[in-house]
Amino acid sequence: MATMSRSEIDVAIRQPMDATIRALDVHKYYDLGETRVHALRGITIDISSGEFVAIMGASGSGKSTFMNILGCLDKPSSGRYFLDGIDVSNLTKDELAAIRNRNIGFVFQGFNLLSRTTALENVELPTLYAQVSKEEGEDRAREALDLVGLQDRSTHFPSQLSGGQQQRVAIARALVNKPSILLADEPTGNLDSRTSVEIMGILGRLNDAGLTVVLVTHEHDISQFAKRTIQFRDGRVRRDELVVNRQTATEVLESLPVEED
Ligand SMILES: Nc1ncnc2c1ncn2[C@@H]1O[C@H](COP(=O)(O)OP(=O)(O)O)[C@@H](O)[C@H]1O
Ligand SMILES: [Mg+2]
Repeated sequence: MATMSRSEIDVAIRQPMDATIRALDVHKYYDLGETRVHALRGITIDISSGEFVAIMGASGSGKSTFMNILGCLDKPSSGRYFLDGIDVSNLTKDELAAIRNRNIGFVFQGFNLLSRTTALENVELPTLYAQVSKEEGEDRAREALDLVGLQDRSTHFPSQLSGGQQQRVAIARALVNKPSILLADEPTGNLDSRTSVEIMGILGRLNDAGLTVVLVTHEHDISQFAKRTIQFRDGRVRRDELVVNRQTATEVLESLPVEED
């Protein structure tokens, strides 16, 4: 575990435990030789356990940069980030990796599955880095595929699956180490409308079961399946509001025509 100084421990203990994610005046600079990109310009956001948040905003507004910080893939240039009350701003690379593996599942726009590996093996992969036996890893992978409704596709390779099915495999992979937070960066960006709604239905069900979900989308319709939307603009929070008259994915799917091919 992290070696924390006395003052850091004090700060960590004083964070209320209901805020899973607490970003305080987070700035991020990218230094590119001569120039410096100021990608995040003072982001302060609390996200509590069990929330379902959609981050919106134009391309280049800092959404992915912020998600990378939330997911402990990167650190703020200044400001602080608390995850489950722990200040992760000052952790080493190894400490970040440990926190990430324990707490966070990632889903990406491009699925990022290994092509020569079955659905089950793809889902099993993250368990190889966790302290579980091969047997337990396979059990968990089957359970995770069950959760996304793909138990009957476990021996298929990614090329034998539709885009929506591949994204479900990726969601199962993100869940296999039982994270408390699921982060998804444009998870429906490569999918048609109906499949996108189905994926949002799965994220909604996981959220109903207690998982904290934060996703990025640039589509208004998709953001409305979340419970809260946060709009970024030029590296700042422009709007932060609750979704009213939230529709469920099931309701929307019933109203959409079924494609016949
Ligand atoms: N690795 C990087 N190196 C340099 N600049 C980057 C890097 N990643 C993002 N940026 C810049 O930071 C800003 C925010 O990018 P990003 O977070 O990817 O935005 P979004 O996901 O909202 O499209 C952009 O100006 C982008 O060009
Ligand atoms: Mg992005």
